[in-house]
Amino acid sequence: MADALETDVLVLGSGAAGLTFALHAAEHARVTVLAKGPLPEGNTWYAQGGISAVLDGSDSFDSHIDDTLDAGAGLCDADTVRFTVEHGPECIDWLESLGVAFTREPAGGDAPYHLTREGGHAHRRVIHAADATGRAVETVLIERAQAHPNIELLPNRNAVDLITARGVDGQRRCVGAYVLETRDGRVETIRARAVVLATGGASKVYLYTSNPDGATGDGIAMAWRAGCRIGNMEFMQFHPTCLYHPRAKSALISEAVRGEGGKLLLPDGSRFMDRFDARAELAPRDIVARAIDHEMKRLGADCLYLDISHRGGEFIHEHFPNIQAKCLEFGVDMTRDPIPVVPAAHYTCGGVMTDRAGHTDLEGLYAIGETACTGLHGANRMASNSLLECLVFARAAARDIAGRLDEFGTTDIIPPWDESRVTNSDEEVVVSHNWDELRRFMWDYVGIVRSDKRLERARHRIDLLLGEIAEYYGNFRVTNDLLELRNLALVADLIIRSAAARRESRGLHFTIDYPERSPVAAQTVLTPPARSVDPVSSAGSA
Ligand code: FAD
Ligand code: SIN
Repeated sequence: MADALETDVLVLGSGAAGLTFALHAAEHARVTVLAKGPLPEGNTWYAQGGISAVLDGSDSFDSHIDDTLDAGAGLCDADTVRFTVEHGPECIDWLESLGVAFTREPAGGDAPYHLTREGGHAHRRVIHAADATGRAVETVLIERAQAHPNIELLPNRNAVDLITARGVDGQRRCVGAYVLETRDGRVETIRARAVVLATGGASKVYLYTSNPDGATGDGIAMAWRAGCRIGNMEFMQFHPTCLYHPRAKSALISEAVRGEGGKLLLPDGSRFMDRFDARAELAPRDIVARAIDHEMKRLGADCLYLDISHRGGEFIHEHFPNIQAKCLEFGVDMTRDPIPVVPAAHYTCGGVMTDRAGHTDLEGLYAIGETACTGLHGANRMASNSLLECLVFARAAARDIAGRLDEFGTTDIIPPWDESRVTNSDEEVVVSHNWDELRRFMWDYVGIVRSDKRLERARHRIDLLLGEIAEYYGNFRVTNDLLELRNLALVADLIIRSAAARRESRGLHFTIDYPERSPVAAQTVLTPPARSVDPVSSAGSA
């Protein structure tokens, strides 16, 4: 039987949150970073618009805070918003010091950085690297992490579950994780003094999404199974503008296109957003996505249109070279024609409940980035506040861990993964069928506009699926697809339960049965049932 691998801090996730954490924490500890597939693959890589921060003399922290609170529809934690906004500029300085080349205006030299605008922002405050900010940031973070002697990067490792044990003080704590090596199917045991969940979001729970395939909410599901509270899962954000084309999977058209003057059009070429909000195309995302959904349903249209052709070919090529190339790939020339667009699931505002240092309910377990629910986003995340949150909270968590590593100590023996009661699957079709069914009913019944009846239908279906998946998981050896399905079904259940519990419409949660916003703003916080397995959270598939 193989010995457990050992590290000081185990980080699940190599996106902006995981790698930023690793680079800060590696000054004090040995850090092991896992990625489900190749290191760059995750939401960070695909981020387009940029990172919001107060970087211009005419802007102010108070303005960024007010815009965030307003977009969050009364549900943000004001102290967390201030904390995040005030740490923004130094996080951008840090990225710049590592070598991230943000776009300058005019291009080249020491000219000031070009700041773009996006929905909800009263100022130009989004710093970016053309229209591929995530790729620029992630590339530099990976290079720096690869060069760091205290960081070990392990791609193709899918964390299955967290391991918990009781310390000498009797307190339950997180002491590592079971991890599937996705190429050879072995499950490894990794022991750590502390574990950081940086596994990104869960938008893959919907049929149409801007997210890459791995966004299956694994960290949220693992934390729930380990006994942590999960908050605000009804607030799944739909990005208003993804390219509409049968083959254009995950192709986002950045909000910066609207920030630079793009207009939303009905099929007859007329504008409509000013009928929904005085800020028109630059209203917060929930409002724009709902307006598009409403107009598409009213007109029976397959898509609406986004037109920036009036800015001319040179401007478009300079600011949106990747979006232009993607559109051309599908036969749309955005320098001449309006782009066909539809909304798609984009961002998970809820997640694992944490404080401002990333602490979860479980000692030794931290959560950062899209997987966490810090209180920054409330009922609707403002554009480009997500990468900012990754940077600010990853650093805060790394500082916290640095001061507490000795206190965390090492762990007694933990059991290896037990496969003695499982066999290879006899019918993989169960996984692929349930995957399709889940994502379709989530789109149809728990999407942009909800109702009690739709949520009830979703409730029946998820109950069936959860039972079927639990039985399958108990009998067969784990695979990447099975693990993702198991997590996605659990996250879907949390979304449905959270949505059903909210008897009002607020931010991203809109229901025709309770269309008004309640005067009292409250978070939806779900607590897992008391745990029956102790001290180890999960050993083996059963
Ligand atoms: P991710 O970058 O998603 O990384 C998750 C990591 O966790 C990956 O390495 C993955 O392999 C790993 N992982 C997942 N599950 C497991 C597991 N079980 N075991 C091991 N590893 C695991 N935000 C902005 O602020 N500005 C933008 O311009 C912007 N544009 C966007 C454009 C697109 C198309 C998308 C999809 C999102 C955009 N966002 C933007 C949102 C933002 O990119 C994400 O919220 C942010 O990058 C999340 O970073 P993260 O580190 O939390 O997770
Ligand atoms: C975009 O570029 O529109 C995405 C920005 C974000 O999700 O914050």
